Amino acid sequence: MQGKRVLLIVSGGIAAIKIPETIRRIRELGGAVRCVLTRGGEQFVTPLSLSALSEDKVYTDLFSLTDEHEMGHINLSRDADVIMIAPASADLMAKMAAGLAGDLATTVLLATDKPVICAPAMNVRMWEHAATQANVATLKKRGIIFVGPTEGDMACGEFGMGRMAEPADLVAALQTFFAAQPGPLAGRHAVVTSGPTHEPIDPVRYIANRSSGKQGHAIAAALAALGCRTTLVSGPTQLADPAGCDVVRIESARDMLAAVEAALPADIAVCAAAVADWRSADAADKKIKKQAGDDAPALNMVENPDILATLSVAGNKRPALVVGFAAETHDVLDNAHAKRERKGCDWIVANDVSPETGTFAGDDNTVHLITAAGTEDWPRMSKTGVADQLAQRIAQHFEAAE
Ligand code: CTP
Repeated sequence: MQGKRVLLIVSGGIAAIKIPETIRRIRELGGAVRCVLTRGGEQFVTPLSLSALSEDKVYTDLFSLTDEHEMGHINLSRDADVIMIAPASADLMAKMAAGLAGDLATTVLLATDKPVICAPAMNVRMWEHAATQANVATLKKRGIIFVGPTEGDMACGEFGMGRMAEPADLVAALQTFFAAQPGPLAGRHAVVTSGPTHEPIDPVRYIANRSSGKQGHAIAAALAALGCRTTLVSGPTQLADPAGCDVVRIESARDMLAAVEAALPADIAVCAAAVADWRSADAADKKIKKQAGDDAPALNMVENPDILATLSVAGNKRPALVVGFAAETHDVLDNAHAKRERKGCDWIVANDVSPETGTFAGDDNTVHLITAAGTEDWPRMSKTGVADQLAQRIAQHFEAAE
């Protein structure tokens, strides 16, 4: 669901009260939701609650001059990857089947060329009525995907078919839908490194850094969302494994290199890990003990292998596109350009990690993309935004090369 945009049309029915929970779950999985609320829907759930949960404007009016100026009903569907109607009332489905376009929801549905998933909710007799069943058959014939309804107790006191699918089922339907989409990076393999490395001093102590892994994990998820087989080689982090990726967990830089090499061949390598540059040359295999009167032990450091530079060496295992990161605290662009030359990678994503930016532990990032063609300054955005934009750029790169 990472980076996917769902246009949620909420029509009238008591099941609309399940929609805030549905939005919350979609967003937890990295999806974005924008809502269209019908007059009927507004009787059960407020624009304010949907807007707060989706963190976006809620659209209700076909004839709103501001909405048409800012977004427009055609753009509402153009901006989405999929439209979900939940709850879909008998009335809304009848209008869709007949091709009516008297309000914003039906106009969007008549004007869209995007896939539509429909989650009906109504009284059992309304669901079983020949008119509704004929409308459902018409809509199915047009390719509309149905999720539910299910059987159970109804708000009206009856029992039978007509309950809207639960939020978990709506989300599962979206996940199944997205998993079935080939995506622009289908057939490609990416290796992504993420997080810090831990370099042992002895069995209980190690050298590490402040990397959270958020940016690397988000990139792995964004590539997987575009259909790319993605191997994420991650140092120790607090993060959950991103959906759809093969995750290899390692501790040290040398383990990371071994895991990356084992994952080759790959079309794409993105090195987002904050690999420790040095390790202790003689890590003790027993805990170093303090002895009264002893001097503090000296650490004898040796350089770690450079994974990005190793991957960038020309050869038949070199990924076609090698992307590195440059974590800089000063002279960001100059250092990043020099790093691209020195490491031999194709692209560098340069970011300022000086403490005042809060980049290391935070959720936002300001980056510059440096390629052979020049430097692009991207606006400050969330790390998932950076990941989605980078994954899109990678997909465009391969499309252009074909
Ligand atoms: N990198 C790597 N292996 C290393 C060190 C760095 O793969 N042993 C990769 C990082 O994942 C990143 C890029 O190289 O993609 C640059 O990392 P950075 O820490 O910014 O640079 P360094 O090579 O460590 O150089 P410096 O510390 O001088 O800035």
